[in-house]
Amino acid sequence: MRAHASVVFEVVVLLICFEVWLACATSPANAGDLNKQLAVWKHLRRLNKPAVKSIQSPDGDIIDCVNIAQQPAFDHPFLKNHTIQLRPGFHPEGLYDESKRASDASNNRPNTIVQLWHQNGRCPEGTIPIRRTRRDDVLRASSVKRYGKKKQMSFPRLLFADPDFINEGGHQHAIAYVNGEKFYGAKAIINVWEPNIQLPNEFSLSQLWILGGSFGQDLNSIEAGWLVSPELYGDNNTRLFTYWTSDSYQATGCYNLLCSGFIQISSEIAMGASIFPVSQYDGSQYDISILVWKDPKEGNWWMQFGSDYVMGYWPSFLFSYLADSASTVEWGGEVINSEPDGQHTATHMGSGHFPEEGFGKASYFKKLQIVDESNNLKSPKWISTFTEQSNCYDIQSNNNGDWGSYFYFGGPGRNPNCQ
Ligand SMILES: *[C@@H]1O[C@H](CO)[C@@H](O)[C@H](O)[C@H]1NC(C)=O
Ligand SMILES: *[C@@H]1O[C@H](CO)[C@@H](O)[C@H](O)[C@H]1NC(C)=O
Repeated sequence: MRAHASVVFEVVVLLICFEVWLACATSPANAGDLNKQLAVWKHLRRLNKPAVKSIQSPDGDIIDCVNIAQQPAFDHPFLKNHTIQLRPGFHPEGLYDESKRASDASNNRPNTIVQLWHQNGRCPEGTIPIRRTRRDDVLRASSVKRYGKKKQMSFPRLLFADPDFINEGGHQHAIAYVNGEKFYGAKAIINVWEPNIQLPNEFSLSQLWILGGSFGQDLNSIEAGWLVSPELYGDNNTRLFTYWTSDSYQATGCYNLLCSGFIQISSEIAMGASIFPVSQYDGSQYDISILVWKDPKEGNWWMQFGSDYVMGYWPSFLFSYLADSASTVEWGGEVINSEPDGQHTATHMGSGHFPEEGFGKASYFKKLQIVDESNNLKSPKWISTFTEQSNCYDIQSNNNGDWGSYFYFGGPGRNPNCQ
């Protein structure tokens, strides 16, 4: 056994040296390096499935078109015999007819939302586009194991009164929320920007959260929106993302398809790919629509991007509380304030401008809706708002005929009133 294991090890080392020949040729690798290289190599082999076709995106990404039945979800032991649902059994009816978006006064965008890689091709039917994970992506993470996972304690702890706990990890939010009922989904139209990030280990995002359980060990969360994360992606591009966890961001869950869980059916939209174009200050505004809902029969949580793209679903068995329903829905922004130089970060939230500036300048969420107990999309009866430090990032919610329930949010971070 020993001899066999050591031969396998040497073969693997050779393979790694072949893949990263530069590293092996230039630095005498010690055992620790080799172990890390081996872990990275194994992880990449698990994540990157054989591609039917690969598309080079202008932003440097490679999009692999992977047979739908070979996607990462099916590495999950519980999904070995799973029959893919090729369409949702149920789709909630909304308040707003999205086909008449073109008449919306705020709308001066092309009708189709584009991902940057579409400029160089599309994936064939029967495949799904997956952003290829590169060695550098994994090496930027704090560890191979944590790649694709949020840091623990990274949920909005608005229900906690303990201020020490609220500031843990430097997460800052400006969010609207509803709770105290049973929710079966949520929807919003989210303004898309490319906020500045001061340090690579910080991020800025705009998303919705579907939450179940208590904010302790076993929080269940389904999340979707856009984010800028130099650590996760190696650049400052605004990217579509999803996240899930069933244990407060500890062992379960991940971004996008970076672990087994989410089953994608869309051949058109890639999780983690850059969204294009983004809004300009005092210029053209762009937004994306995100809908997450629970199929009342199968119990799966589905996600739709825009009016046309049903992305796929999270099987109900991934969750405990969310296997039944959500108890809180949140919409808004989050950044990491790592307090560079002992001061508040200058990382932007939303557009980097405060809500007072309004349309074209501050970032918005509009047409907030929840899916109620009768599986109808409805404007929430009331929403509450929360922010840790309104001098750094703020939120202002309102309601009108065109936009329904909406809010402006965000801010520049560090400024004379936020040090
Ligand atoms: C999958 O199906 C096979 C054959 O029917 C069965 O033996 C196995 O237990 C099933 N596995 C799971 C995880 O359900
Ligand atoms: C991302 O933005 C920061 C500052 O906003 C800049 O220092 C950095 O070079 C940018 N990174 C890339 C990969 O463009």
